[in-house]
Amino acid sequence: MKLLILILLLVVCPTVQAQQIGLIANTDGRKTVSLNGQWQTIIDPYESGYYNYRYQPSDNGYFKNAKPKSKTDLIEYDFDSSATLNVPGDWNTQSDQLFFYEGTVWYKKSFDYPRKPDTRLFVYFGAANYFADVYLNGEKIGQHEGGFTPFNFEITKLVRDTGNFLVVKVDNKRRLDAVPTLMTDWWNYGGLTREVKLIETPATFVHDYLIQLQKGSRQRVSGWVKLAGEKLNQRVTVRIPEAGISKTVNTDDRGFAEVDFNADLKLWSPESPKIYEVIIEAETDQVRDQIGFRSIETKGTDILLNGRPIFLHGVCIHEEAPLRGGRAYSREDARTLLGWAKELGANFVRLAHYPHNEFMIREADRMGILVWSEIPVYWTIQWENAATFENARNQLGEMIARDKNRAAVVIWSVANETPLSDARLTFLKNLISHARSLDTTRLMSAAMERHYINDTTQMIDDPLGEYLDVLGCNEYVGWYDGLPEKADRLEWRSKYQKPLVMSEFGGDALYGHHGDAGARWTEEYQESIYQHQIAMLKKIPFLRGTSPWILTDFRSPRRPLPNIQDYWNRKGLISNRGEKKKAFYVLQQWYKQL
Ligand code: GCU
Repeated sequence: MKLLILILLLVVCPTVQAQQIGLIANTDGRKTVSLNGQWQTIIDPYESGYYNYRYQPSDNGYFKNAKPKSKTDLIEYDFDSSATLNVPGDWNTQSDQLFFYEGTVWYKKSFDYPRKPDTRLFVYFGAANYFADVYLNGEKIGQHEGGFTPFNFEITKLVRDTGNFLVVKVDNKRRLDAVPTLMTDWWNYGGLTREVKLIETPATFVHDYLIQLQKGSRQRVSGWVKLAGEKLNQRVTVRIPEAGISKTVNTDDRGFAEVDFNADLKLWSPESPKIYEVIIEAETDQVRDQIGFRSIETKGTDILLNGRPIFLHGVCIHEEAPLRGGRAYSREDARTLLGWAKELGANFVRLAHYPHNEFMIREADRMGILVWSEIPVYWTIQWENAATFENARNQLGEMIARDKNRAAVVIWSVANETPLSDARLTFLKNLISHARSLDTTRLMSAAMERHYINDTTQMIDDPLGEYLDVLGCNEYVGWYDGLPEKADRLEWRSKYQKPLVMSEFGGDALYGHHGDAGARWTEEYQESIYQHQIAMLKKIPFLRGTSPWILTDFRSPRRPLPNIQDYWNRKGLISNRGEKKKAFYVLQQWYKQL
C-alpha cells in the first residue's frame, strides 16, 4: 500500500524526486558555467502555462517546452520564437510593457553539458523575485520562495550531454502572507534578478564551512567544515598560507568536523581590510575563499571592533542600480554604490531591507565597509501565520549561510518598523534565536520605532530591544514629524544599556530644485534637515552609529507626485542620475570629522 502511494506521489508531483542539499557555500572557488545572458521568455499573467482552465495545475505546462510534432499538433506557445530578457536583470526596466507588471514570467534557457564521470552538477540562482518553480528537461527540480537569497538544486541525474532546457516560472505577485507582505516602499522588481550558473563538483565535495574568529577572541579561529557525498570520512586540511597556518581534521560519518586553532592574524578593519586566502582541502575536493578576520561585540553602550570602540558612520542603500535604475546585480554596481558611500566618509552601510547581491558583500569586504544585512520582515507581516514565519526563518538562514564568512557583515537585522504586539514579539524573538543558533559571532539588531513620552523627549523602549545587541531606530524628525528645527528641542532616552544605531532619518529633495530652506522638496530643505539632525544626534549619549535614509533616490510605487517624485523616493543624498545634493556635503563634513 505504502509503495503504491509513493509511486502515485512520484507521478502526480515530480517535485519530490531528488533529495536536495542546502546552499553550496562559496560558489566563487568552484568550476562553474554561467547561464547569464538572453533567456527566452513568456509573459503569462493568467498562468495558463501552469494551470488548466479548471485552475488545476497541468502536467503539460510550459515547462515541457513542447514543439508541434505534426501539422495537426496544437501547441499554443513557443519559447524559441518568443521575446527574450536579460539575466541577470529585473523585467520591469527591460520593457515598458513590464514596468508595472506583477505576475508570472516563464524563462527558458537551453544548454549542453557533457558531464564528466564522478562529478555532480547543480544549478545555482543568486536570487529570483519572488517565487520560482524550476524545471529541467520537463521535470520539476524544485521551488524557492523569497526574492533576495540564493538557492541551488542538484541536476546530476537529470542533465544530458546535449539539448538541455532549463525552465523557470518566476512569479512576483505580492501576497499578504508573504515576506515582504503587500505593502513596501520599494519597486517590486521581478525576474531572475541575479546570476544563474551551473556548478560542477566532485562526487564528494566541500559543501559548506565556517572559518571565523571565535566570539570575543582575536587569536582563536573557530568553525567547521561539512562534506557532502558518499566518502564522508576524510582528512580535511584548512590552510592560510600567508599566515603559515595548516590545520588538519577528520570528518565524521556525517562529513562534519569542527575546526579550532590559534592564529596570529592581521585583523580586518575599515582602515585596513586585510583579506587572507583560505584553502579547504579534502581528499576529494579543494575550495579557496577570501576571508577577513575581525571580532565584533558590544560592551554596555559601546560597539567594539577588534576590541576597540567604533562609531558606525554610514548610510542606507537600496539595491537600485546606480545611474540606470532597476535591480542592481553586478560587481560594477556594487563598486559604484560603495564608492559613493566611501566618498561620503562612510565606514558602514545598512543594506535595506533585504539581503543584497553577493558582489555588494564581497566588495564591502574588499573595501573595508562594515555591513548591516537585513531580511524583508517589513512593516505589517502576518505574525500569527506559521508559513509566514517559516518563510522568514528560511530567508534568514539563507542570508546567514551565504555571508557567514564575510568579515564586513557585522549586524544581522530581523525586521524594519514592525508594529508592537505579542505575536510580533514572539515571531521576532524566534527569528533572533534562530540566527544566534546559526552564528554566534555577529550582532543582532532590528530597525524599531520610538515614541514621545512628552513633547520634547523620545523614548526607545520597544520590548524587542531586550533581545537585540544593537538598537536600531528610524525617525523622520523634520520630514514626517514636524519641521527640521524640531530636532533642536529633542532629547533621546532608552530603556536599554545598549548601543543605538539611528538606522533611518532624512527627507526628500529633487536634485536641482532650489528654494528657501522652509520649502519642501528643495535641496535647501533637505540640507536643513541634515544640519538639525546632526546637531541632535551628537547629543545622544548612547548613539554609536548612523545610517540616514538613503544614499541614492530609488523607485517606489508609493511615490507618484508628478515632476517631483514620478515614482522615485527622493530621499537620496544622490539623485538617480548620480548628482550629489547639498545634504550630501553636510553629512560628508560630519563624517570626515569622525
Ligand atoms: C520608512 C521605511 C523606508 C521608507 C522610508 C520613507 O521608514 O523604512 O523603507 O522608504 O521610511 O518613507 O522614505
